[in-house]
Amino acid sequence: MPILYSPENQVFHLQNDRISYIIRLVAGKYPIHQYWGKKVRAIHADVMERCCNQQEEGFTLHELPLDTLPQECPVFGCGDMRQGMLEVRQADGSSALDLCYDSHEILKGKPALKGLPSARGEEAETLVLRLRDEHSGVAVELSYSVYPDIDVIARNMRVVNDGEQPVVLERALSACVDLENTHAQLTTLSGAWARERQIVTRPLVPGHQGVESVRGASSHQACPFMALGKSTVTEDEGEVYALSLCYSGSFWADVFVDCNDMARAQIGIQPFQFSWELKPGDSFQTPEAYLCYSANGLNGMSREFHHLCGRYITRGKYAHASRPLLVNNWEATYFDFNEDKLLELAACAKDVGIDLFVLDDGWFGHRDVDNSSLGDWVDDRRKLPNGLRGLSDKIHGLGLKFGLWFEPEMISPDSDLYRAHPDWCIHIPGRMQVESRHQLVLDLSRKEVREYIIDAVSAAMERGNVDYVKWDMNRNMNMLHSDGLDSAHQKELNHRYILGLYEILEAVTSRFPDVLFESCAGGGGRFDFGMMYYMPQAWCSDDTDAFMRCRIQYGTSMVFPVSTMGAHVSAVPNHQMGRSTPLATRAAVAMGGTYGYELDLTRLPKEELDEIRRLNEKVKALQPLLLYGEFYRLCSPFEGNKTAFMSVSEDRCEAVVTHVYGPAEPNRQPVLLPLRGLDAEKEYRDVESGRVYGGDELMTHGLTIPRAWGDYMATQFHLVAVD
Ligand code: DGJ
Repeated sequence: MPILYSPENQVFHLQNDRISYIIRLVAGKYPIHQYWGKKVRAIHADVMERCCNQQEEGFTLHELPLDTLPQECPVFGCGDMRQGMLEVRQADGSSALDLCYDSHEILKGKPALKGLPSARGEEAETLVLRLRDEHSGVAVELSYSVYPDIDVIARNMRVVNDGEQPVVLERALSACVDLENTHAQLTTLSGAWARERQIVTRPLVPGHQGVESVRGASSHQACPFMALGKSTVTEDEGEVYALSLCYSGSFWADVFVDCNDMARAQIGIQPFQFSWELKPGDSFQTPEAYLCYSANGLNGMSREFHHLCGRYITRGKYAHASRPLLVNNWEATYFDFNEDKLLELAACAKDVGIDLFVLDDGWFGHRDVDNSSLGDWVDDRRKLPNGLRGLSDKIHGLGLKFGLWFEPEMISPDSDLYRAHPDWCIHIPGRMQVESRHQLVLDLSRKEVREYIIDAVSAAMERGNVDYVKWDMNRNMNMLHSDGLDSAHQKELNHRYILGLYEILEAVTSRFPDVLFESCAGGGGRFDFGMMYYMPQAWCSDDTDAFMRCRIQYGTSMVFPVSTMGAHVSAVPNHQMGRSTPLATRAAVAMGGTYGYELDLTRLPKEELDEIRRLNEKVKALQPLLLYGEFYRLCSPFEGNKTAFMSVSEDRCEAVVTHVYGPAEPNRQPVLLPLRGLDAEKEYRDVESGRVYGGDELMTHGLTIPRAWGDYMATQFHLVAVD
């Protein structure tokens, strides 16, 4: 039984073969967090004695020392002096809540969340714990799902106004966990446009620390994820406690270390600029949070998140399938293309074994630069005289699939859509509009806007008979105000936007179940489990430089599997930073994601096209292993001049190891690279050299990486177990 309830001890024990999560009702009323970590049979220690230095018996409720107790749903105002998970402004203006146990239910499976993406869980079991504040009638349902095969607990909260007066939610987080095991360091993924998800580890100090976004998107700057552990945690050793969120909007991930060294880790919708009215009878559903425990360091944590994503979050035809090798015309032509140029590129792509031709920005309206036409999803007949259908027919005629770029959430002031509906964008009436990349954001909280997007995108997809969509989003939100909401509800806009986005994505992706969708947000500005639920891959970054990509993809792999990371070979010198790297290195790095090209193939010399043809054959042969194998980070680009990672097949009979040097250094010996995840008892043959090594040897002594001759040299090894 994954969830055991002991009425006698008032203990809920969520468990699988490896982990336990234990909640205890103290004084019969308050859900106290008693334990989370390695599987135990039970916890007998008295939490009151441990945390408050007092016996449980003899306490009256109002004397409970909430300030020192680890809690499941803390609320500020009744004795706990730390920031809590929930803040509800009641009719009298106060916000204290005394949330006490009301009832509970243990369910087979895992209910989906209405209007929000969430992990599937047919084999999971779910505890729903109901708490209630008698004074206001505010009730909460805390849900916890435990899986048999992954060490992740999925949590969410639903708040219900069972009272007689309206109340206003000012904070409704998805999960809170009070950790007592002297957690010493925090790892997050922080960055910027073209430098997304850089690994940052810092010591925990008393007070608040964490990551957040206030941008209306999960953002380039921060990823909704954080991991805590002791300072001795490594990639492969030590206990890690990580939180992540299935949400694509502004979020808050915070750790507060109190005077007793208890670390309160919380994650959820960003409370800043958020409020939500609940009339009597209304409820509010928070997004889903994932709590991951790993006894095997950060690599172990990542593999749990990868399994969560691959087995339970990504959906549809491509969730577990090979992905078509694509060429995207963006860095090949930018806006300067016509049908002939595109067909020339497509023919060349077909000739080297590419499967999918993607037409990026600039095919609609009169968009010759980035200052017009977003919202007008009509074919630009100057560039495409035969329209999308004419082009698509010819691309299909070449034996390629056809893909198309959209940026459906945006509107250009220079567009027919804007001229017809100037109020459809997010703006404050009477104030100047603040454009970014010459564009404004459509107000997805409005039904008519959502309907327009669904219809316009669907029509273009049908017209173009498309097999793939790149769904882009190139700016964050400001001047927050919706004409569709009254003044008391303006702080609902951010979340209503995301709910509107999810409604659109659900409609479009289910209308086109055979289409492969890739999300994008100016590169990796919305790389989160929420988007992965609708689209199984996301463009990792606008930075296509192979050396920078090592860092971006290495950081991204902390949480997300290889199969989600759009990664392309682009031209040299690189368009974002002018660096030149060898073709083999660009390809080796792109094989760490969903593989493609983003360059003008027609300009490459024959030798490079021949090399690309060979590379494509290799990628196709290795794709199942590269995309869906167990992934191990071996050598961090954040710690030195080298990056290494590997994928191992489930049966541990095959592996691909990639090693990339940075700028070459003179007088260096070849490097020994210890591998991971192999079978110590097996012998492995390096396919290229024919050399045979023991699995034990490879994981202890290591594989010899040749010395670098020249900058940014990559080496790849394909190891196959010998019978
Ligand atoms: C940003 C994306 O990340 C790029 O790949 C490209 O699609 C441009 N937008 C087009 O405007």
